[in-house]
Order: sequence, then C-alpha cells, then structure tokens
Amino acid sequence: MSKKSIEDIDVSGKIILMRVDFNVPLDKGLVRDDARIRAVLPTIQSLLSRDARLVLASHLGRPKGEPKEELKMNPVASRLSEILGKPVKKLDQVVGASVNKAIKNMKNGEVLLLENLRFEKGEEENDPRFAKQLAEPVDIFVNDAFGTAHRAHASTTGISAYIPAVAGLLMKKEIEELTRCLDNPVRPMSVILGGAKVSDKINVMRRFLQLADYLMVGGGMANTFFAAKGYAPGASFYEKELVDEAASIITESEKSGCRLVLPVDLVVTREIKAGSDSKVVEPDQVNDHWKAVDIGPGTAKLFSSYIAESAMIVWNGPLGVFETAPFDQGTGQVAREVAKSRAYSVVGGGDLVAALEGLDLADEISFISTGGGATLEFWEGKELPGISVLQDSG
Ligand code: 3PG
Repeated sequence: MSKKSIEDIDVSGKIILMRVDFNVPLDKGLVRDDARIRAVLPTIQSLLSRDARLVLASHLGRPKGEPKEELKMNPVASRLSEILGKPVKKLDQVVGASVNKAIKNMKNGEVLLLENLRFEKGEEENDPRFAKQLAEPVDIFVNDAFGTAHRAHASTTGISAYIPAVAGLLMKKEIEELTRCLDNPVRPMSVILGGAKVSDKINVMRRFLQLADYLMVGGGMANTFFAAKGYAPGASFYEKELVDEAASIITESEKSGCRLVLPVDLVVTREIKAGSDSKVVEPDQVNDHWKAVDIGPGTAKLFSSYIAESAMIVWNGPLGVFETAPFDQGTGQVAREVAKSRAYSVVGGGDLVAALEGLDLADEISFISTGGGATLEFWEGKELPGISVLQDSG
C-alpha cells in the first residue's frame, strides 16, 4: 500500500487543506494532552518551509452537526500557535464566503485553522455538497489524520473527488510502522491486549493469533475468557454475549502456533476507589461481590518473562483500571518491562498512551500510534477509507 505523500508533490505557493486529528482531551478550556498536535508538526513544518499556504481542519469531540461552545477549536489553535512559535489564525466557520475570503488573503507560509468540522451535518454524512465547499478555496488535500482514517467523512474521503489527495508525513509513518508488525514480524513476537471489551478486539486477536508467538490478554477482557472457561466472575465486568467467541479463540489458539497467555492471578476489590480493600486471587477464585481490577503480581511476572525474550512487541489497551491507584500496578510493571526491552515496540490506543505518558515511559517505546479505533481496524486488515482515497505512488 504505497501512497503519494507531500514529499512527491510541488507545494510552493499552493493552498493546502490539511486534515489533522486534533481530537484532543480538553480540561477547563485548555489542551490536556497535545501529543496529536505535536505528531503532525513535521508535516506542517515541511509544507511551510516549502512556501505552501496551510489551512488546517479537524473534528473535536462528537457535536453531531451542531455548534457547541465547549467544542470550538480555539484552545487547539492557541496550543498549536505556542508550539509552532507563530500565529495561527482561527476561523469561526468551516465553509462559506467568509472562509473563502480569509483563505484567498493568505500569504505563503501562513497557517489558518477552520472551526470544528463536526459542527456541520455534511461532515459525518459525507455530503458531496459540503465536501465540494471544503475543496473550493484550496488546491490540494493532504490527509495527516491517521486517527480518523477509519471514518468515511467529507473531510477524509469526500473531498478527494474534487482535488488531488496525498498523505502527510504522519499518515505515511503510521502506515509504515503498523504494516511492519503485520508484514515483517520479528520473532519471538509478543502481542499484549488489554482494555475492557473483547468485542473491540476480537478481529485483532484472530489476526495476531496467525502472526504472533505469544498473545497475552489482560484488563477487563480477560474476564470474558475466564467465563468461557466456566469460572464464576463474581462482580467482575465481562461480556456475556462474547463468551462463545472467547471459547472459540481459546480453541483456535490451540491449533495456531501462538500461545494464548491469560492471567494466572488477579487483583480483586469490592469497590473501585483509591485505597479500597483489595486482595490477589486465582482467576477461578473470584467470590461474589468482588471484581477483578488488575492483573496480579504473578501475571505481571509471567508476561514480563515473555516480553524479555521478545524481539517485537505490540501492545494495545491497559491491563487494569489504571486511572485508580493502586489498580495501575500491573499496567505499570508491564510498561516498565516493555520500556526496558530492546525489542521493537509499538503501542496503539489512547488510554494506554496516557498511562505510558503518566509513567514517563512514552519515549522508550519505538512507535506510539496516534490512532485508537483506526489502529485496531488497520491491524484487523480492514481497508481504511481515509487511506484508500489517497493517490497511489509510482
Ligand atoms: C479518535 O479519537 O479515535 C478519532 O479522533 C476518531 O474520533 P471518533 O471516534 O469520534 O470518530
């Protein structure tokens, strides 16, 4: 899957509409985590240094086609301006005469940010009229929003019907790094999957059962596997309707060359609250009113032993309720082991990235994907609409 990128085209004096994923967490009107903004800086800087005029566009949250005061792009524009060290003009509209005028008045090397794309109904409906309006004042479409590449919206796919569409440098890097885990697994390869739900990851599990040497499962999703083994769940969260799927994954793993590694112990509590009573039990010993909230120390040690011998590590999803100490310990211990490892490591998914940043370990990971759902769908082998509409290279 080789796509044309900004490196393959002449951008001097051109007006570029660059789709970015600035869907960042906000806190009291400020950007709480600017990783997604920093991730597209190489593309922005490359285009500006080559005298392009840059119009940035993103969604923020899910306003469902209506303007919402708290989801305006203003805090994002301020943060971007601080990071870039130059003014970023923020418009109050997404399309229309005033937007076209502001774009027409831009000079080479200037940056402008449109209002939240999802304030317009046409965005998520992929309305061709809205896509055409977006394309009207610009010359070239650059998609650097890997995190939104699984959505077929006007600003990710529809617009490509009207102007040439190429990848940004982040999009290119995400495709290269995530493909590497699928096409060139280096052995032994470990995959660690956590998070609450098996339903989000069932297809990724199947894909990695065919590719990896070890598939370790933690977090709430492990409970559904224990239910498939017939263990009483106590008060633990699990997905009843996915128990048969989990049972078939266990059977498939026995026939595959991949070892499915489930937790051998769990931290359980009666209440998910900082400092509440907890104990470590075996997975078939979770009593009524107790719920699993983390992998136990024996599991962290077991996972660490596989990580230590791995040459490639893929990780998605935390292994416990990491937002509530002390139920963050399993995720922390495994994170330290992955950080220490000399293996090529790839981490995908927002929650886990926040956990790694909190532990100050993010820099030790070879590649951190900016995608959540997009990364999972990419690994499942699905064609992402925001990538397939880009021009092929060569
Ligand atoms: C994300 O945060 O995963 C992307 O920005 C996509 O957002 P969405 O799930 O609201 O489409």
